[in-house]
Amino acid sequence: MKITFLGHGYVGLVTATVFADLGNTVHVIGHTKDKIDNLNKGIIPIYEPGLSEVVQRNIKSKRLFFTLDYSPYIQESDIVFIAVGTPPKKNGEADLTTVFEVAEKIGKNLSGFTVVATKSTVPVGTNKKVKEIISKTKPEKAEFEVASVPEFLREGSAIGDTLNPDRIIIGTESKKAEALLVELHKPIDGHFVLTNLETAEMIKYASNSFLAVKISFANAIAKLSELTGADGIKVLEGVGLDKRVGKEFLQPGAGYGGSCFPKDVKALISIAKGYGYKFALLEEVEAINRNSRNDIVRKAEKLLGTFKNKKISVLGLAFKSNTDDMRDAPSIDIINMLKEKKAFVQAYDPQAMNNAKKIISGIEFCEDIHHTVQDANLLIVLTEWNEFKEIDLREVKKLMKTPLIIDGRNIYDSEKLKKMGFTYLGVGR
Ligand SMILES: NC(=O)c1ccc[n+]([C@@H]2O[C@H](COP(=O)([O-])OP(=O)(O)OC[C@H]3O[C@@H](n4cnc5c(N)ncnc54)[C@H](O)[C@@H]3O)[C@@H](O)[C@H]2O)c1
Repeated sequence: MKITFLGHGYVGLVTATVFADLGNTVHVIGHTKDKIDNLNKGIIPIYEPGLSEVVQRNIKSKRLFFTLDYSPYIQESDIVFIAVGTPPKKNGEADLTTVFEVAEKIGKNLSGFTVVATKSTVPVGTNKKVKEIISKTKPEKAEFEVASVPEFLREGSAIGDTLNPDRIIIGTESKKAEALLVELHKPIDGHFVLTNLETAEMIKYASNSFLAVKISFANAIAKLSELTGADGIKVLEGVGLDKRVGKEFLQPGAGYGGSCFPKDVKALISIAKGYGYKFALLEEVEAINRNSRNDIVRKAEKLLGTFKNKKISVLGLAFKSNTDDMRDAPSIDIINMLKEKKAFVQAYDPQAMNNAKKIISGIEFCEDIHHTVQDANLLIVLTEWNEFKEIDLREVKKLMKTPLIIDGRNIYDSEKLKKMGFTYLGVGR
C-alpha cells in the first residue's frame, strides 16, 4: 500500500518505518528542512533502540521517504496517518492546533479515495472535526473517510510494540476504511478491536489513565508501607500476583512522567469537566504523583538536613530507561526543588543529556557515572537504566564523600547496600 505519515516523532517515525519494513511504500512529511535532510541521510531526531538501522535499511530499499511536500504523496496515498504532537495547554486540554493544521493541508491535496487515520492521542470528537475540516478544504471530486487508530507503543521498546501490540484499535464509521486499515495491519500480530470513532478515541485516554492509576496506587501503598513498617515492594508483589490485578505498573518510584501519562490524565480530567463530570479519582492520581516527586526531596532532606554546600548526584534524567525523552520527567521537578534549596547538583544520563540541557539549567552535567558521583554527599537514582544497575557500588562508595543513596526506582538490593556501608532509602521499603 501507499501510505503517508504526518509527523516523525516517537510515534510517526517508528510506525512509518515498521509499515515500510512490512513492504509498504511510505512517505513521511515533515515541516523542518534540517530534520528532513537528516532523515534522508538516515540520521534520526530521537533515540529509540534499533530504529536507526531499520530506517536506514528502508531508505536503501526505497520503501521509506522523507519530504516537506504534500503533493503528490497525499494524492497517491491509500492511507494518510496523522501522528503529530498533541501537547497539553496550560489548562490541561490537549492542544490540537497541529492536528487541524495538517488536516487542512491534507484536505487540499486529496484526490481519488483516501483514508485519513489519526494516530495522535486526541479527545473524543476530534476526528469528527478533522472530517469537517477536510470536507471544507478538499477538491470536489476527492473522496475520503476518517478513522481513529490510536497508538500504544512504549518508548524504548517501540519497534517490538508496533510489531506485537496487545491490541489494534480501529475506530471508523466506514466499512471501506475499516477494511483497508485491517488489511494494512494484517501482518502485525495483534487483537483487533473494530469500533466507532468516539470509542477508539476514548480507549486511548482510558488506557493511559488506568496505567497512571496503577502507578499512583502503587506509590500510595508504598508511602503507607514506609509509615507502617511494611515492605511495600513485597506488598505490591503480593497484590500484583492476583491475575485480576496483574503485576505490571505496580512498582513504586519517583512517579510517572513522559510525554503521555501526565498529559493524557490531564486531558481526560479536562474532557470530563467539559461534560460536567468531575473526575476526582484522576485528580487524586495527579496529586499522589506530585507527592512521589516531592517525597524524593523530603528523603534527601531527612538524610542531609540542609542542602547548603552539599553536592547531590543524580543518575538518570530521562523519564524512563531506553529513551532520550525528557518531557515531564520527574528529574526536572526534583532537580529544581534541590536547586531551590541551594544544593549543588551534578547529573548524568546515558541518552537524555542533550534534551536535558535544553530544559534544566544551573547544574553540572557530567560525562559519566564516575564524574557524577565524585565527592557527592548523596546519590539519587531517578531512571532505571541497566548501566546504573550494573555499576560497581564499592567504587561508587570510594568516590563519594558520604555513602548515602536514594534509590528512586528501587533498582538496588537494599540489604546488600546496607552491608556495604551505604545508608539506603528506596521507595516503599
Ligand atoms: N511518545 C509516545 O510514547 C506515544 C505513544 C502513543 C501515543 N502517542 C501520541 O502520539 C502523538 C505524537 O507523539 P510523539 O511522542 O510522537 O510526539 P513527538 O513530539 O515526538 O512528534 C511529533 C511530530 O510532529 C511533527 N510536527 C509538528 N508539526 C508538524 C507539522 N506542521 N507538519 C508535520 N509534522 C509536524 C514534529 O516535527 C514531530 O516529528 C501524540 O498525540 C502522543 O500523545 C505518543
